[in-house]
Amino acid sequence: MEILKVEALNKRFGEYQVLKNINFSVNKGELISIIGRSGCGKTTLLRCINCLETFDSGYLRVSDIEIDKRNGQKQNNNGNQDFETKAQKIRRKVGMLFQSLNLFPHLTVLENITLAPIVVKKEPKEKAIQEALILLEKVGLKGYENRYPYQLSGGQSQRVAIARSLAMNPEIMLYDEPTSALDPELVGEVLNVMIDLHKEGMTQIVVTHAMNFAKTASNLVVYMESGEIIEIGTPQKIFESPNDPRTEAYVRLFKE
Ligand SMILES: Nc1ncnc2c1ncn2[C@@H]1O[C@H](COP(=O)(O)OP(=O)(O)OP(=O)(O)O)[C@@H](O)[C@H]1O
Ligand SMILES: [Mg+2]
Repeated sequence: MEILKVEALNKRFGEYQVLKNINFSVNKGELISIIGRSGCGKTTLLRCINCLETFDSGYLRVSDIEIDKRNGQKQNNNGNQDFETKAQKIRRKVGMLFQSLNLFPHLTVLENITLAPIVVKKEPKEKAIQEALILLEKVGLKGYENRYPYQLSGGQSQRVAIARSLAMNPEIMLYDEPTSALDPELVGEVLNVMIDLHKEGMTQIVVTHAMNFAKTASNLVVYMESGEIIEIGTPQKIFESPNDPRTEAYVRLFKE
């Protein structure tokens, strides 16, 4: 079942076209890696999917919420208001994890996880706490509920941040280089949580420089260059026999 669709999406920052005619779709339960050089537009694409950025033209559907700016559809006076209403609905369906600094420093692990369920979803506190404890166990951090973020390693912080996103029951998780700020020995514990979530059927899109993870854990790999999707394929296709010479040149950088 298709859960996300992006069609002919274009975005500029002033004169600079950062995303060019982006087309792709994601089925429920897939784990998709987005790879490409610094500045090619990966973060901007995630931010458009999560409606943290607007786009200039094209189409976005997340679950059953659509934002349609195809065929230069004229924005009426309600255009911005309409976007914001839909954007809020989309943000509720999508969890997003950044490189670092995802947690509120002055709240405990438990308070970090339960804040949004209690305040935004109006869950009773007891229920939110029960769910948070289950999520903490899921990310391998049973017993950490009363710690503060400064008492956690980078890998533990990222796992709490994943638990915090999951507490809102997202339909899709987006990750922007979730392990690139971590010491190498901590990378695996975060990636393993994503692999476990994949087994449970969570839909996930990850921007990553962890090529081995992209190669072994994802269903599909998206290669971007200069604001364009150059190629989408299975990891085997992208890493072993890409169609486009630009993909070939990029993945060659990661081979001995
Ligand atoms: N708010 C902004 N205003 C103007 N230009 C921006 C803005 N955000 C990003 N850009 C530019 O858009 C381009 C794409 O940026 P983006 O952050 O999406 O790249 P990226 O692929 O995530 O790079 P990296 O791998 O370094 O994180 C870059 O040239 C960047 O300078
Ligand atoms: Mg980025």
